Amino acid sequence: MTRSARVLPVLLLSQAVSAMFPRAQNISWKSTNFKTVLTWEPKPSADYSYTVEFSVVGGDKERNHHCVRSSSTTCDLSMSLTNLDVCYTADILSEPPLGVTSDLTEFPHSSAPRFCPTTDTDIGRPEFQIKEHEDKKSVTLYVSDPLTALFKDGRQQNIRDILSDKLYYKVTYRKNKSSGKKELESKSSNIEVTGLDPEDGYCFSVQASIPSRTAKQLGEMSQTVCSNNTNQSIIKDYSPGVIAGSILFVVVAISIIIAVTVTCCRRKRKGPKNRRVRT
Ligand SMILES: *[C@@H]1O[C@H](CO)[C@@H](O)[C@H](O)[C@H]1NC(C)=O
Ligand SMILES: *[C@@H]1O[C@H](CO)[C@@H](O)[C@H](O)[C@H]1NC(C)=O
Ligand SMILES: *[C@@H]1O[C@H](CO)[C@@H](O)[C@H](O)[C@H]1NC(C)=O
Ligand SMILES: *[C@@H]1O[C@H](CO)[C@@H](O)[C@H](O)[C@H]1NC(C)=O
Repeated sequence: MTRSARVLPVLLLSQAVSAMFPRAQNISWKSTNFKTVLTWEPKPSADYSYTVEFSVVGGDKERNHHCVRSSSTTCDLSMSLTNLDVCYTADILSEPPLGVTSDLTEFPHSSAPRFCPTTDTDIGRPEFQIKEHEDKKSVTLYVSDPLTALFKDGRQQNIRDILSDKLYYKVTYRKNKSSGKKELESKSSNIEVTGLDPEDGYCFSVQASIPSRTAKQLGEMSQTVCSNNTNQSIIKDYSPGVIAGSILFVVVAISIIIAVTVTCCRRKRKGPKNRRVRT
């Protein structure tokens, strides 16, 4: 037997296995607010299924029972990646369907990129409310920390529970009628914005910011919320005393003008008479 004759059957066998159990392709992690789903293609035929094996980089392989011999092309590993501060990797095995046995001991597989929850998950858009202060020179934004897919002691965790002091919020704001933008960053979820022009309405948007990350430092931008102090009528902004005072001032001013005009005209009329008397 020649050497090539011995290699050939093995090669043919492995090609046949690959044809029966196509490898997963286009594998990616989709992760927002620590909800982490591994996705891949293509949808399997009835003749095979997928099994996901994941591990801490360099660690032992584990399985999530939802993602064993499954015909799905997604696997939610949010609850399985229990250590958020390390990096994980995963393999997707192409195997016979559930309940079908095979003599093969090894199946084709492909590997997912590495994923590190704390640094790689996207942060979704926060919601917030604004409260204008009396003087209209400042507002407070009350941001709701977005919820995550994770629970601790039966309580759903928000991003601040998990990121703690790594979490900031970045506020972008502008006068409603202008496009000039200002920004500020805050460690708190209750953010005071000061130095506003009381005459104008302002529009605000907020996004999470994680300056300690090297990538994905900014989260998704919230919807824009505007303050509505554009409708300032005189009645609303000034007290009745001020309005009464203003009216009194105008009346007095008009009276003085009339008085001066009248006196002046009388003198003018008198003037020529006096001169005539002298000549
Ligand atoms: C993988 O992605 C490429 C580009 O988006 C696409 O052309 C290809 O069909 C995908 N593969 C599978 C198996 O769906
Ligand atoms: C704007 O005005 C509406 C109705 O006048 C009020 O319900 C809303 O709370 C105001 N918004 C802010 C941000 O004050
Ligand atoms: C802000 O300006 C837009 C148009 O520029 C207007 O439709 C909107 O009502 C304004 N909002 C407030 C609160 O003044
Ligand atoms: C401003 O006043 C007008 C009429 O007084 C009213 O129709 C409009 O809704 C008010 N706009 C705001 C932003 O309060």
